[in-house]
Amino acid sequence: MKKLSYVFVGFTLIGSMMFSCKKETTTSTTTSNPTTTTLDTTKTISYKNDIAPLMSQECTSCHNNANTSAGVNLSSYANVSKFASSSISAINAGIMPPSGKWSADKIVVFSKWIAQGKLNN
Ligand code: HEC
Repeated sequence: MKKLSYVFVGFTLIGSMMFSCKKETTTSTTTSNPTTTTLDTTKTISYKNDIAPLMSQECTSCHNNANTSAGVNLSSYANVSKFASSSISAINAGIMPPSGKWSADKIVVFSKWIAQGKLNN
């Protein structure tokens, strides 16, 4: 528990450093998405359990087989894997999703999945 909160404080610090140039600080309370608080950023990220649900909640309404906004399809492992680096850029820049910038923990989960080799697990 102590270790976990230490890690969380670490991410919070990194998060606030990343967002320090913006006036509003992103907290998980703003867009009260219940899944936000349960994302565990300390483990190996799972495509099936972490990334696919994130994509379907946040991205596939506009990026799917029938509607590929900007040619981007995020509806399967192969597609998410293919568009991962452009997606994380758009997410970090606050361009995607259009509804507002992701909270730091979601960004960490997606970045970590990419850093861990975009596992199909
Ligand atoms: C409400 C619809 C909508 C949602 C939700 C959405 N997008 Fe998009 N996305 C768009 C549209 C429209 C464009 C084209 C924007 C443009 O070209 O100006 C786009 C463009 C993109 C691009 C290309 C950016 C570029 O620089 O060419 C990427 C990558 C992307 N979206 C990823 C995502 C990811 C990842 C998510 C989820 C976190 C997401 N989008 C959620 C509508 C959406």
